Amino acid sequence: MNYQIPLFKLNFDNTEEEAVLETLRSKWISTGPKCEIFERKFSEMLDVRYAVSLSNCTDSLHLALKVLDIKEGDEVICPSLTFVASVNSIRYVGATPVFCDIKSLSHINICAENIEPLITGKTKAILVVHMAGFSAEMDEILLLAKKYNLKIIEDACHGPLSEYKGKKLGTIGDVGCFSFFSNKNISTGEGGMLVTDSETLGARARLLRSHGMTTMSYQRASGHATVYDVVELGYNFRLDDIRASIGIVQLDKLLPDLHKRQIVRAMYQKYLSDYDPVILPFAENNEFVSNYVMPVVLKNSDSEFRDRVRNQMHENGIQTSVHYPAIHKFSIYKEFTSNLPLSEYVADNEITLPMYSSLTEEEVRYICETLKSIISNLRK
Ligand SMILES: Cc1ncc(COP(=O)(O)O)c(C=O)c1O
Repeated sequence: MNYQIPLFKLNFDNTEEEAVLETLRSKWISTGPKCEIFERKFSEMLDVRYAVSLSNCTDSLHLALKVLDIKEGDEVICPSLTFVASVNSIRYVGATPVFCDIKSLSHINICAENIEPLITGKTKAILVVHMAGFSAEMDEILLLAKKYNLKIIEDACHGPLSEYKGKKLGTIGDVGCFSFFSNKNISTGEGGMLVTDSETLGARARLLRSHGMTTMSYQRASGHATVYDVVELGYNFRLDDIRASIGIVQLDKLLPDLHKRQIVRAMYQKYLSDYDPVILPFAENNEFVSNYVMPVVLKNSDSEFRDRVRNQMHENGIQTSVHYPAIHKFSIYKEFTSNLPLSEYVADNEITLPMYSSLTEEEVRYICETLKSIISNLRK
């Protein structure tokens, strides 16, 4: 179906095309100078010391756990209300995910208060996801990490340039992970970044992203190295220069794009904040936010009702999504079943409305009016 209003629109123009053409014509298309520029610009933007470009964020999360030496027998506390990759990464290193519920229906991030009772002698880390780009309760989580000597991995896929008390998300814990999948705030098709202030962790991530080899093809091609050793069992998690050149252009567009998204969010708030049947999560937030997606949670609802609302939105030409099905309900996570009533309620009753910087006020009004009339007709 071709939606009149899609969930997301790429913020691309001829600058991305020209950047790709330039890279193709340069005759160096794999990891090389464009990746280096992309990494440098990304680390400067976040004010973090090390940025390692990767093929996607799933690899970034996997490497984050590897460089922090999380392994079989260890436990990692994480939300269930996230994309499955956040938690798969814990299992890639053989560790056990321990699911923690969200704080409330209006703060749909991991609840710091609920983390402490889940900590055992095996807990090694907390994996935090900043939903829609809104920060988790980082002060409380940092205190717990200090008290119990735990590492913090931030899945900041949704939050490039989002802030928590003036610090950029992804730079608060030990390692931060970003995605450049096509529907993200920075789109390169596929792509990811690992950031850290630790020289040791950054260097190890760089080594492991390319087979544990001590030099890269580009260094050898440009005469900076002639041989290599393999010192660890690494992976091929590299980004290429074609995508990095798109990323460089996207970084320049990011801040203006986010400013426009702020305006779009304000429009949604204008039309929905006094509408009792829905909750707008993070409505109280005053920090700068990426507004990656626009989640709303239906009150007094169930999954059947939510799905009927979604179907009718689609019939009216408006694409919606769900962020997210709860991971502990997936077949391969049944053995990790937990009691997570709030996560389950949101998984069953959340609707993600369209969000992109070129949405007009007329479109937002149409989305909100359509949502309201569908809900009231279904409740008659
Ligand atoms: C919260 C979250 N974590 C991880 C990922 C995985 O990112 P990628 O698709 O770049 O591997 C995504 C992206 O879809 C995500 O939204």
